[in-house]
Formats: sequence, structure tokens, C-alpha cells
Amino acid sequence: MKGIVFNLLEEAITAAHDEAYWDAILQDANLLGSYTSLGNYADAELVRLVEAYALRRGWQPSEVLRWFGPHMIRAFAHRMPGLFAAHSNLRSFLLSLNNLIHPEVRKLYPDAQVPEFEFEEPAHDRLVIRYCSPRRLCALAEGLIVGAAAHYHTPIQLDHPECLHRGHNKCRLEVRWQQGVSH
Ligand code: HEM
Repeated sequence: MKGIVFNLLEEAITAAHDEAYWDAILQDANLLGSYTSLGNYADAELVRLVEAYALRRGWQPSEVLRWFGPHMIRAFAHRMPGLFAAHSNLRSFLLSLNNLIHPEVRKLYPDAQVPEFEFEEPAHDRLVIRYCSPRRLCALAEGLIVGAAAHYHTPIQLDHPECLHRGHNKCRLEVRWQQGVSH
């Protein structure tokens, strides 16, 4: 996992608490924490940090990832505003993940391992996103979708009826536009 993700997790936790709190998380996780944005670090380190924070908050690790997603979106919207400005709405933004957003991410952060999604549009107010990755970070995907919806001021309902963590071969994330408005 790219160092930028660790940097943003540090940013999110420091903003919610303070630097000493982040240091305590590093200690709990038994990690040193000198992450550079372009470096590559073991996924297991991210898992340990997420678990350490979850333990302190009394949350599930998946709740930490769901909480972190919107922060990650806000941080990227600040760093890469053009990626968001290229889309006038949430649907178009999400549909561009495979062919625009994540490829741009890979230009900036070479050898980032980004997931490939499958999309279905079963109705004008619905978008189904299928996700599969050995990292099984579907809770992060949920948080990123929620963060993107907030960015585009779009109220959505998000369901996750099938999940890698519950034995399905892919996660099924269902975005439903509220009030039936699909933008
Ligand atoms: C501008 C918006 C976005 C940016 C800049 C971005 C960037 C990134 C970056 C840097 C990584 C780490 C890759 C690595 O370290 O190897 C990543 C991974 C990931 N992204 Fe995105 N992302 C964006 C939007 C989204 C959205 C909306 C979703 C939700 C569907 C998403 C889902 C994921 C997931 C689940 C991963 C974890 C990697 C894996 O599962 O294998 N991303 N993204």
C-alpha cells in the first residue's frame, strides 16, 4: 500500500485527536511510522494501524475504514481538484474510476495497486459497483463512495448486500440516489 494512504490516515487521526494520539497508535501497533507518500508499505501495517485505532475507539476495523474514506476523498479533492472538476456529478465520477481516476492515481503514485470495479446500471437511480481485491478493503470503498457523494452534495443510500467478508466472491455495493434523482 502506498505511503500516501498512511499519510492520510495519520492526517485524519491527528485532526480528530492530536499528534500524541497518532504516536500512541503507532506504539500500540508496534510500528515506527515514517511513511513517505511514494513509498510502498506492507498492507498488514495498515491493518495493524486500523485495528489499533479501532481498539481505542471501541469500533470495528471496518468502521474505521468507513470513517477514513470521506477524509481520503476530501484530501484528494484538495490535492487533485482537476479529477473532481472533470465530473459534474457523482455517477459520472464513480463510473470513471477504472478508466480515469485510478489510472491518474497510478501516474502520480507509480505501482499503486488499485482495484478494478465492475459497474451495472439497473435503473436510472441506481448504480451497482462490484469489487474484488485480495486486500478486501470494501469498507474503505464504502467510505470513499460516501465521501464522493458528499463532495457532489448528492444524498445516496448505500447497501452492501454481498461481501467478500461474508463468503461471496465479490462485494456488491449498491448506490441508490435518494428522491429518485440520478445525479
Ligand atoms: C479521486 C478519488 C480517488 C483517489 C485519488 C483514489 C486513490 C487511491 C489510492 C492512492 C489507493 C492506494 C493504492 C495503493 O496504495 O496501492 C487507492 C486504493 C483503493 N481505492 Fe481509490 N481513489 C479514489 C477514489 C476511489 C473510490 C470512489 C473508491 C470506491 C469505490 C475507491 C476504492 C479504492 C479501494 C477499495 C482501494 C484499496 C485497494 C484495493 O482494494 O486493492 N477509490 N485509491
